[in-house]
Amino acid sequence: MDPFIDFSGKVAVVTGGARGIGAEICRLLHSMGASIAAMDLNKEGVEALAAELSAKGPKAAGYAVNVADSAQVDSAADAVLKDFGKVDVLVNNAGITRDNVLIRMTDEAWDLVLNVHLRGTFLMTRAFARPMLRARKGSIVNMASVVGIMGNAGQANYSAAKGGIIALTKTSAKEFAGRGVRVNAVAPGYIATEMTAAMTQEARDAMLKAVPLGRPGTVSDVSSAVAFLASDRAEYITGQVLQVCGGMLM
Ligand code: NAI
Repeated sequence: MDPFIDFSGKVAVVTGGARGIGAEICRLLHSMGASIAAMDLNKEGVEALAAELSAKGPKAAGYAVNVADSAQVDSAADAVLKDFGKVDVLVNNAGITRDNVLIRMTDEAWDLVLNVHLRGTFLMTRAFARPMLRARKGSIVNMASVVGIMGNAGQANYSAAKGGIIALTKTSAKEFAGRGVRVNAVAPGYIATEMTAAMTQEARDAMLKAVPLGRPGTVSDVSSAVAFLASDRAEYITGQVLQVCGGMLM
């Protein structure tokens, strides 16, 4: 158990938990004592992760959920409350990319990326904030990106969605603060995952050149920041954006 952060007895909901950053967040919070409700479009992936975690500690369950679908999100929230009895932490991490230069970006690519990231974060926050506000405690961490602050050529949809998530983070932080619920965002830079492995070598080299610390981030660099913000160690922090980017954006 980590002596600094303790999630014993807490329930954490993590979206996009089947792989990448989301899977690492599930593993880290679980190793710190949290029970985990992992959600993903990828049913097999999220169920396998839940089985791996349940076998060696607090309860974990996987849920097949499209975060952009209001009805699915609401029924997943009901299921989590039934299965776990409460929710203490929500991490809105699910995401996708459909990159193209703006003048060639299709309506579908725009709508899909905005729906998964921004609408998904809104729907999950609305559904899970209700029990948190009733309990007068809880912590929400949204996955933004440095491109939501600085923009990125070829990612009009993604950077607009991430900028929207930052604004949504601040607004929900203001709405929920009086009832003990904190909302923060983590803004990663270039992190080595399957999402960035799908980019061209040229694009990855260009990103790496912009990182003063001289290496891509790891999923564990990001999950550590999420764990801190989600924990009681961050109880005086709300409405903030923590950049985990090796200094790419200062
Ligand atoms: P990934 O592609 O490895 O994993 C994303 C997960 O989200 C997958 O398991 C996928 O099935 C799930 N997902 C996608 N659409 C979904 C939906 N509609 N409903 C439920 N689940 C869905 O991506 P990665 O790299 O782990 O990224 C995680 C988050 O971190 C994303 O929000 C991403 O935008 C953000 N991020 C990643 C960076 C990177 O360099 N990898 C940099 C900055 C932010």
